Amino acid sequence: MAELIAEEKINQIRQSVDIVDVISEYIQLKKHGRNYFGLCPFHGESTPSFSVSPDKQIYHCFGCKAGGNVFSFLMEKDGLTFVEAAMKLAERANIELEIQTNVPAKSISKDFQQMLDAHDLLRKFYHHLLVNTKDGQEALEYLLKRGFTNESIEKFQIGYALPSWDYTFKLLTKKGFSIDLLEKSGLIIKRERDGNVFDRFRNRIMFPIFDRNGNTIAFSGRSLGGEDPKYLNSPETAIFNKSKIIYNYHLARSHIRKHQQAVLFEGFADVIAADRSGVVNGVATMGTSLTEEHVEILRRDCQTVTICYDADHAGIEASYRAGNMLTAAGSNVFVAVMPEGLDPDDYIKQFGEEKFFHDVIGASITFMSFKLLYYRRGKNLQHEGERLLYIEEVLKEISKLEKAVERDHYLRQIANEFSLSLDALLQQLQSYSGGKPENQLKKQKGSNQPVLIRKQIDQLKPAYYNAERHLIAHMLKSSEVAFKVQQLLQGNTFNIDEHQAIFTYLLGFYEEGNQPDPSLFLNFVQDERLRRIITEIEMMLVNEELAEKELSDYIKQVLNHQKMLKIKEKEAERTEAERQRDFLKAAAIAMEIIQLRKSL
Ligand code: UTP
Ligand code: MN
Repeated sequence: MAELIAEEKINQIRQSVDIVDVISEYIQLKKHGRNYFGLCPFHGESTPSFSVSPDKQIYHCFGCKAGGNVFSFLMEKDGLTFVEAAMKLAERANIELEIQTNVPAKSISKDFQQMLDAHDLLRKFYHHLLVNTKDGQEALEYLLKRGFTNESIEKFQIGYALPSWDYTFKLLTKKGFSIDLLEKSGLIIKRERDGNVFDRFRNRIMFPIFDRNGNTIAFSGRSLGGEDPKYLNSPETAIFNKSKIIYNYHLARSHIRKHQQAVLFEGFADVIAADRSGVVNGVATMGTSLTEEHVEILRRDCQTVTICYDADHAGIEASYRAGNMLTAAGSNVFVAVMPEGLDPDDYIKQFGEEKFFHDVIGASITFMSFKLLYYRRGKNLQHEGERLLYIEEVLKEISKLEKAVERDHYLRQIANEFSLSLDALLQQLQSYSGGKPENQLKKQKGSNQPVLIRKQIDQLKPAYYNAERHLIAHMLKSSEVAFKVQQLLQGNTFNIDEHQAIFTYLLGFYEEGNQPDPSLFLNFVQDERLRRIITEIEMMLVNEELAEKELSDYIKQVLNHQKMLKIKEKEAERTEAERQRDFLKAAAIAMEIIQLRKSL
């Protein structure tokens, strides 16, 4: 993160600006005790749950859980990169910065740079052919007829490749690029039979594909007539990795970060059409289905992803798959639904940009509501058996929802639609959720008091959860405590993965010789989700000093949970042994269980 600005500079900036001053320029803050409070700039609210700590130089929202230091505030609020945020703060503090805005050329291999150069040159050339020459006229007319505007042709740098076998080849070799390099770039193809070379893209409308820094790294060429393939793509190369690249990320990223939302399309023609309607945070994968890498990139930059795939069978299945992947990664998922058979580009052509923006994107539904529709497909709900199957399928999905209010909401919907009692549904639901403590929170009525609800949920968190958070709170204040906890855990880990990750970061932070410093530590942690948890923990009220007794109690709770899991496992083994009438074995396991229980 700080690779382009020296670490001392970052620290100098951090120490010369006050987070309260910076945030005060965006929202009104009122002092209350040690901290300041105001209306959260990251989510709509009418009672202040956004707090800023001048001592710790961090902020945290108890409502939406946004949190971080002065750098992440600017990154999230203004959609800046870390370096941009640092530049803005440096200017404010009158600190001179020498930074290279581009990745230093020496860190890129020569081949790599040449490949980028060849793509860049071609992009300009193809674009020029399309917009300025007679050769490109037919292609230009095709695009305009399809609804592309001159602005979008400019913005997305669309171009045209001539119907020639070697025009590109000649052009690039004349400019000094070697045949070998051009072949590695995927721009020309060498025929094995006779070693002849020819251009990959001929007589196609050329869509350049950019990386997130705006470098052209590949092309996709659309055929003008009906030739196959409809879209011809650059192959995977050293600079083009399809499972990582997201179309339009270089333009959309700042909007995505700022609004904490991305709209995911199936095709890049849809991204371009949607852009005209004002969807500036639209992106697409490049002719591959969504990968875990794509999901991770999106999760880092925003909370919400709205899926807007084609309204056909393949698109609906792909939405279901993508929605599950994104949800599993922790993103908040919505689905924009269109009339059967249309893709976003068609829809905009038929109904207009305005209607698309408001009635499709603006009316997107939660992923759970999408699943209610998804499981309905192909079923006749008048038929009793199919109806029961449907209810079972959706109850299973509802039981996976994290928030009690959400579960309640959809259960009521199902109860109403099928005239079933809420109690019967709740009972059924519990049989799926295995009675997790959180899931027993069923009596909450739909409510608009997120802070209150969250508090209640927290109280119902298991003891080890609270113990781990208290330990982290104390470790954030003292490196001694951190190393002591490490020792006391004796190689065991925290039960919650995120807690363990924070613990590991913290040990690394102290081992590098840093002193406890909440705001500095946040720069050290790259993962936004972890940063949010850290600021939440920082805002917990804990005793100034950690007494021996308190420490050992927490450690015990952390370790006990692992022992409890072990006991459960052993109990199942014992039951199995008894079932097989292997009483000797069962007795031996029973002894082990007794020992384990004693050690609790
Ligand atoms: P679609 O077939 O839905 O294209 O493919 P589209 O966006 O509607 O395009 P138009 O409107 O017919 O021009 C969606 C995506 O799948 C990939 C491309 O990335 C495209 O954007 N694709 C499609 C290919 O890679 N090759 C193909 O031959 C077709
Ligand atoms: Mn289309």
